[in-house]
Amino acid sequence: MTKDTKNPPIDRVDGRLKVTGGANYFADFELPNMAYCVLVGSEVGRGTITSLDTKKAQGAPGVLGVFTHQNMPPIPGWDAPVGGEADGPAPKPKREETYRILSSPKILFDGQPIAIVVADSFERATYAASLVKATYNKQAARTELEKHLSEGVAPKGADGGNYLRGKADAYQSAPVRLEANYTIPIEVHNPMELHGILAHWTASDKLMIYAKTQGVNATQQAMAQAFKLDPKNIHVHTEFMGGGFGMGLRTWPQETAVVAVARKIGRPLKLVVTRSQMFTLVGHRPYTVQTINMGADTNGKLVGLAHAATAETASYEDFTEATVNMTKFMYDCPNVSTRYRIVRLDRSVPIWMRGPGEATGAFALESAMDEMAHKLNLDPIEFRLRNYTETDPEHNRPYSSKNLKEAYQRGADAIGWSNRKNEPGSQREGDWLIGYGMSTGVFSAFRWEASARALLKADSSLTIQSAVTDIGPGTGTALTIIAHNVLGVPLNQIKVEYGDTSLPKAPTQGGSAIVSAVGSAVFDACTAVKKQLTELAIKEGGSLAGRQADELIIADGVLSVEKEPRKKVALSELMRANNLTVIDKSADSKGGSEQSKYSMYSFSVHFVQVRVNPLTGVVRVSKAVSVADSGRIVSPKTAASQMIGGVAGGIGMALTEEASIDHRFGRFVNNNLGDYHVAVHADVPAIETIMIDKPDPIINPMGAKGMGEIALIGFAGAVANAVFNATGQRVRDLPITPDKLL
Ligand code: MOS
Repeated sequence: MTKDTKNPPIDRVDGRLKVTGGANYFADFELPNMAYCVLVGSEVGRGTITSLDTKKAQGAPGVLGVFTHQNMPPIPGWDAPVGGEADGPAPKPKREETYRILSSPKILFDGQPIAIVVADSFERATYAASLVKATYNKQAARTELEKHLSEGVAPKGADGGNYLRGKADAYQSAPVRLEANYTIPIEVHNPMELHGILAHWTASDKLMIYAKTQGVNATQQAMAQAFKLDPKNIHVHTEFMGGGFGMGLRTWPQETAVVAVARKIGRPLKLVVTRSQMFTLVGHRPYTVQTINMGADTNGKLVGLAHAATAETASYEDFTEATVNMTKFMYDCPNVSTRYRIVRLDRSVPIWMRGPGEATGAFALESAMDEMAHKLNLDPIEFRLRNYTETDPEHNRPYSSKNLKEAYQRGADAIGWSNRKNEPGSQREGDWLIGYGMSTGVFSAFRWEASARALLKADSSLTIQSAVTDIGPGTGTALTIIAHNVLGVPLNQIKVEYGDTSLPKAPTQGGSAIVSAVGSAVFDACTAVKKQLTELAIKEGGSLAGRQADELIIADGVLSVEKEPRKKVALSELMRANNLTVIDKSADSKGGSEQSKYSMYSFSVHFVQVRVNPLTGVVRVSKAVSVADSGRIVSPKTAASQMIGGVAGGIGMALTEEASIDHRFGRFVNNNLGDYHVAVHADVPAIETIMIDKPDPIINPMGAKGMGEIALIGFAGAVANAVFNATGQRVRDLPITPDKLL
């Protein structure tokens, strides 16, 4: 728990609801006359359906319909010229392959839905789905990235494709050189809550949706486009989410299909996908192969750095992410080049996952930094300090704030870095080898546009409203604290309403951007309320008449003047005196020219101690310290929880998480939580989190930068570096399973 903050660590405002079953997740909603549907997936990874027998399913008890490419109701917004993303906002240039769910017999990936079976209960739909039989004209599915690396293409429009500063091959002439390849396997978000949607047409042109989405406004837009409706007629509700990790950052084709089928059958329709469908229908972290070339002089100064990444995507849609971006600005190096390619495979399309491409890239860069430090016989922190940069070398402008040196120091002290021996394999305790490793993480700190509303009632209770969804990081708690800090209303009299399109528009919960974006709007709305209260108090005849606005202090529901003669008025009294039942202020907030003069990033440093058993190859993370340099910490307790969650996810990424495909069939072999190993309690040690907690003067009025992604970014590299320190073995292919150490 962090202690170094002026803010009291308050409990998660929705914690009680979540642990008592009082929080309603999308699948908890039950509507009168509701029907259930189940998706039948393709059994081949590429080919064409030659026959589809749905008769038995049609005749099964309780079945209300079986929908396939032969009878799928139309999705009007998708009738536009074929060629774009299945649910993208605008028509895209035509490409060879497209995926329109249930619109053709063509199969583009294993598990692709070939039928939606609808029944009056989930069990009956599941049984009927088992009766659907298909035959296929099967083609060989290309699913193995390593075999198709030469087919990489530069994604259109993405700046990650090529970057050059100085000379691309400068590393070649450096006295100390490193070339290394790193691979990240397919990882799957696998939150506890399964994905899905509940769609209810309340009128022929009105739609109510309960979904698992990270952005209710984004889902509203996607459905408005798909069904050619006025967004105002679409109401989306996602107040609680049992983990997102990125899978809810878009609307998936099967969600749109469910809405279409709901309209056809004239009943509310619910889909909850199966755990195995979570591997194929809602994205994943793409398999990525990376090469780092690094050159340094004998003083440990970087001479040249080149980072190339190739990742898989689908045949029908290009997914790209910022895998190589960190390399462009993290270290002071005159010659830097990056290259990013994607390979179109017969696979379902990836999506951002936990610290997305930046986490993938950080594993490579931060492993390579450790490898180079070893070649130079330098302490890995010392090597980073020799290449530290106070300004952003990519954009030639200052960082809005950067306290990374302090983060290195405090993390090193906390883990006991002085106990580390630079000589690998030189520390043992009983049967276990001990090693220490560290790494750096970084992620853009955004200031997106958002709106919020603050309603102060005469009983001095405060309601804050924003459409934003809380996917788990504690958004509701952070917004409560921001409102409290501005208006002085006691925490237990503040209620935050969120996760619904009836509320002021907000961006999608993602990119660690919400405290900055929505928090700023809440700050502004509350500031407007405060301004009105102040004006009422000091106006002629007011309770604090004759006093200056800047003398007023607002705390505990009271407006007061400390300067003699002391005077105070309760907010409720002030409102009653002015015949006000409510003060209602809305605010739109976004970054502007001031922010654009700076490079805004959050930074993290991860330190781990590992124990490696040389006989079994088992790696245990025995200590972890994560330090966040993310500006002012608004909500210390939920911020620490995010860092702890990042460590848990990072241990999974480093040691256990891998979705394996049998490439003969293009099919996952471990598509369940028994065989796909996320880190569990027994894998996670006590974690120390440290917050630098220095306000960023640029980004927003709170001085708060994002937290979520930096909790994970870099962590896997710290583990790999610690494993090297313990054993002398360098594992460049995640996860670091025991077989790789024997
Ligand atoms: Mo995050 S990967 O932006 O949900």
